[in-house]
Amino acid sequence: MGIGIKGDLPWRLKTEMEYFTRMTTETKDKNKKNVVLMGRRTWDCLPETYRPLRNRINMVLTSQLMNYGDKAIVCTSIPNALEIITKIQNEVERVWVIGGSKVYKEAMESPYFGRLYLTRIRKRFECDTFFPPIPNNFVLVQDPIVPEDIQEEKGIQFVYEVYEKR
Ligand SMILES: NC(=O)c1ccc[n+]([C@@H]2O[C@H](COP(=O)([O-])OP(=O)(O)OC[C@H]3O[C@@H](n4cnc5c(N)ncnc54)[C@H](OP(=O)(O)O)[C@@H]3O)[C@@H](O)[C@H]2O)c1
Repeated sequence: MGIGIKGDLPWRLKTEMEYFTRMTTETKDKNKKNVVLMGRRTWDCLPETYRPLRNRINMVLTSQLMNYGDKAIVCTSIPNALEIITKIQNEVERVWVIGGSKVYKEAMESPYFGRLYLTRIRKRFECDTFFPPIPNNFVLVQDPIVPEDIQEEKGIQFVYEVYEKR
């Protein structure tokens, strides 16, 4: 369940990154965008050239007084993030929580939580940051837009999983 090492991703998987971009960017309503909500360290980890994540509304959680200009909206807590999203809800289709550890945990505990889209990497990597335990009331479901077969890149196998809270 590792997700990070020394402020970076433990692996480089182009197809998985493309899947992340596709899933978090695509909207049914072309007049709307998705929000990507992340912790401050995850924002810091994004390479400058990919910041903000394109065609998505970037929101960063921090307890510090930060200002990312027009690149990202700063929020001080998950309730504060939800308040801001409520104000712009006509422009927003989905909210994707994209890490790190504590933000994932808080999001999964939220009554507004919908689904967990998790990529399970079938190889051991050294990690210092981990995905929180998946609660027992989460069940595997299918999503027609998510490939079900085993993926492979650079000899590394991985599978896309989707969980719903029951
Ligand atoms: N594999 C993946 O899919 C994936 C996804 C995301 C990240 N990662 C990796 O994970 C690592 C970063 O994750 P992380 O868990 O260390 O950090 P993180 O969650 O990205 O950031 C932690 C920071 O976010 C802020 N924060 C978190 N929850 C908050 C809340 N409820 N209210 C206000 N501020 C809040 C705080 O910022 P302040 O300290 O500024 O107050 C906190 O120090 C990196 O290695 C990254 O590459 C991997």
